[in-house]
Amino acid sequence: MRSVSQLPVLPGFPVSRPRRLRATPALRRLAADVSIAPSDLILPMFVREGISEPRPIGSMPGVVQHTYSSLAEAATEAVEAGVGGLMLFGIPERKDAAGSGADDPDGVLNVALRRLRAELGDATVLMADLCLDEFTDHGHCGVLDADGRVDNDATLVRYAAMGVAQAEAGAHLVGTSGMMDGQVGAVRAALDGAGFAQTAILAYAAKYASACFGPFREAVDSSLRGDRKAYQQDHARTVREALAETALDVAEGADAVMVKPALPYLDVLRAVADASPVPVAAYQVSGEYAMVEAAARNGWLDRDRMVAETLTAIRRAGASMILTYWAAEVANFAR
Ligand code: PBG
Repeated sequence: MRSVSQLPVLPGFPVSRPRRLRATPALRRLAADVSIAPSDLILPMFVREGISEPRPIGSMPGVVQHTYSSLAEAATEAVEAGVGGLMLFGIPERKDAAGSGADDPDGVLNVALRRLRAELGDATVLMADLCLDEFTDHGHCGVLDADGRVDNDATLVRYAAMGVAQAEAGAHLVGTSGMMDGQVGAVRAALDGAGFAQTAILAYAAKYASACFGPFREAVDSSLRGDRKAYQQDHARTVREALAETALDVAEGADAVMVKPALPYLDVLRAVADASPVPVAAYQVSGEYAMVEAAARNGWLDRDRMVAETLTAIRRAGASMILTYWAAEVANFAR
């Protein structure tokens, strides 16, 4: 192949100079194709039962397990900063094999939803993680069968109850994140049957068994030993599988679909965004956050530039909504 400098320049033909539009901040701003609006960002938040002070999460510097009152305060601040929504995760004091706290109206996540909905009304989109792993003593996303394997269809029954409990508690939207087959359809039917036809479903459509979820284990005091490879996707599969998963979720009634993690799966995100008839979200997960924070703490890279660059990359790959632990900070910066 010839290099650009060897290409013949036709006499009288103007030489293209891509650098022209990079010369000043104003030119670059004008030429920019993608930008991040605070209203596209969703802040994931953790609330823990039985604590009186917020607890820092060591592997996620700057992120805490909230008390009910610190959650309300931080949620209000984030909404005032303009974030588009809040995604809640609950950490119960007691866990059991069935994950009973998940659909208990007095369970931590449902109590937190009720309080936030009372406080914030419709000022934001209140979302809840719909999965059992924070509530089970074995740490799996579903209930187990006699052989200790995650039982898909028995888990769907639990998800249906959990979805109804979250809708009753005030969630505008539930995020089905357990990767059981048929989960969107089961939750949709349960919501409709219980009078919650307006409660939306954000389906974690393409979710990979990823090392990027590492810090999240600490964030929710997970008791998981082993991994989730028997239900979350294998990173060695191509986008075809992600497209099939997305199509199933849409057919079952997903109002929006998600790709997760984000940065190592931008090819998947692009493909899903091109094919999906519904809005597409991406989740910049705990490990993506931790990598940047840790390197920045060592002085190895510029934190703020990395935050902007990673979010822009996710946007460029087609996400219309981004879940990120930096949501409130970025929204505040944009004000
Ligand atoms: C499932 C769930 C997980 C995350 C969001 N929902 C954990 C998992 O699937 O292992 C991870 C989010 C993150 O790492 O930031 N309840």
